[in-house]
Amino acid sequence: MNAIFCENLVKEYLSSFRINRVLEIEELKIKQGSFFGILGPNGAGKSTLINIITSLIRPTSGKVEIFGKNIATNIVFAKTSVGTAVQDIKLDPFPYVWESLEFQAGYYGIPKKSRKTDELLHNLGLYEHRNKKARMLSGGMQRRLVIAKALVHDPDIIILDEPTAGVDIELRTHLWQFIRKLKERGKTVIITTHYLEEAQELCQEIAFIKGGKIIMQDKKSNILSLLDKKSAIIKTESSVDNIKIDGVLFETHEFGIKVNYAPSQIKTIELIEKLKQSGVEIQDLTIKDANLDEVFSYIINR
Ligand SMILES: Nc1ncnc2c1ncn2[C@@H]1O[C@H](COP(=O)(O)OP(=O)(O)O)[C@@H](O)[C@H]1O
Ligand SMILES: [Mg+2]
Repeated sequence: MNAIFCENLVKEYLSSFRINRVLEIEELKIKQGSFFGILGPNGAGKSTLINIITSLIRPTSGKVEIFGKNIATNIVFAKTSVGTAVQDIKLDPFPYVWESLEFQAGYYGIPKKSRKTDELLHNLGLYEHRNKKARMLSGGMQRRLVIAKALVHDPDIIILDEPTAGVDIELRTHLWQFIRKLKERGKTVIITTHYLEEAQELCQEIAFIKGGKIIMQDKKSNILSLLDKKSAIIKTESSVDNIKIDGVLFETHEFGIKVNYAPSQIKTIELIEKLKQSGVEIQDLTIKDANLDEVFSYIINR
């Protein structure tokens, strides 16, 4: 079952009497229960895509379905199935934090006794701030409040547009944990980010978007193996000065040795065997794939 299906989606804006096509997506399928990342540089069209899926803006042409229903003709269904934390924070400055959540629940017609205001405040680390006005919160806390508001109606699909933009590292790690829990509860989670490490941490499937078009979509593991490149960080006292293995590059590393190799040339297991045969005493070992940053610049420049 697709949580989201987009077909021939186009968005155009008129700017200085020219038509500017900012989005052109032939097809996008996001499976129910997946953790999906929409990645691309600033201005790629990520927010435009999200805002169309969330019915915040209308496409110039094309179709979006949520759980098989066209959003143009199933407006209430579309709005209740999806919770979105938009990128541009526009919080009503006057209500208290807890009131913001209560009002939001009110918009969705959720009866008072079924509301989960306190639970959301706790889950997002906002409970201590519940009696502050939204405008008094720091940027990172405001972003949490935006996410909490997106969750009041317990939607099946959660879309977070740049969830950790402007958020400090500690909050970011906390938010990542929270977002992972949503996924574990069976939700479909979609994030956009220009921050590739975030997608690498969280997402199972990734669409790269550039100039309004999807230039690649695949499982993260497949994307990462596109670059025939891995590295092994080996904790060791041994030196590698005299070791030679064909096609393998050694560097010194703070823990010992870093080994760069191509999995198509030498399997990880073989590499470890060869290192042992050469007398390297391996105390510990971490294998790393190429990272998304490297893959992204490879895809964009090829
Ligand atoms: N309301 C608008 N009017 C005209 N151009 C817009 C509007 N909103 C977005 N754009 C343009 O559409 C492109 C994609 O923007 P956006 O979807 O916000 O990118 P991203 O979220 O990937 O950074 C950009 O070139 C942006 O300038
Ligand atoms: Mg954006």
